[in-house]
Amino acid sequence: MTKKGMKGIILAGGTGTRLLPLTAVTSKQLLPVYDRPMIFYPLNTLIKAGIKDILIIVAPDHSGHFLNLLGSMFEKFGVHISFMVQKQTRGLADAFILAEDFIDGESTTLILGDNIFEDDFTEAIETFEKGGRIFAKEVADPERFGVVEFSSDHQVLSIEEKPAHPKSSFAIPGIYIFDRAVVEIAKSLIPSARGELEIVDVHKNYLAKGLLDVRVVKGAWFDTGTHESLFEASQFVREHHFARNFHPMVNDAIQEFNAEFKKIVSLKK
Ligand code: G1P
Repeated sequence: MTKKGMKGIILAGGTGTRLLPLTAVTSKQLLPVYDRPMIFYPLNTLIKAGIKDILIIVAPDHSGHFLNLLGSMFEKFGVHISFMVQKQTRGLADAFILAEDFIDGESTTLILGDNIFEDDFTEAIETFEKGGRIFAKEVADPERFGVVEFSSDHQVLSIEEKPAHPKSSFAIPGIYIFDRAVVEIAKSLIPSARGELEIVDVHKNYLAKGLLDVRVVKGAWFDTGTHESLFEASQFVREHHFARNFHPMVNDAIQEFNAEFKKIVSLKK
């Protein structure tokens, strides 16, 4: 059973400029990844891990699209979804400041809305007690990501954001577990040179206190922020029948939504 009270946040803000013109008409996180909008993948990751209270942080443009799709889809399945609009993109760590009331003193799992995982995070979430827990995935191009160096007993040794000369080949994917202290840590951060509250500065804060550990992610991981990676993710999802990897409840909720949608369309005719 998942730890009582663990909250889930999906960060689905941002302008998605790298995906224009696709993102001129809707949010990046609502673009299709094969047979369903991208947002279902991080949502499934949280629901599979047993999280029942989920906040989706969205950008103001196209925010109504999220509500139309997900506003009541999971209510009868016992998963509560709420929404918050992020007016300005102030960096990933801003999510914890915006979500302070939602977090309400509990631990939180934050997942980026454009990150697709094959792995199951139930164990990592269930065994989490305090501090911070990040993840690591070996990649060919670590300089594109946050990079983590760690010991054989999963203790983090160093963290760097997009380093020119990475100390390890392990990228930090966009899923993080933090205890309640994260809100105050996020509030204490100073914006980086690019004017953002950086998630790696949250990691470094926990690291300095000796409270940061890491788990290696199994299976595929996609950060679908570019046309190329979005296409690769769709291809992978199709070839690996990824829908079978979804929690049955999520698939049921999508089926019911589709049936309801068709009914309404036929009534309008
Ligand atoms: C962000 C984080 C980076 C992380 C990546 C994962 O980068 O800053 O540490 O490795 O997400 O997707 P971004 O993709 O926003 O440049």
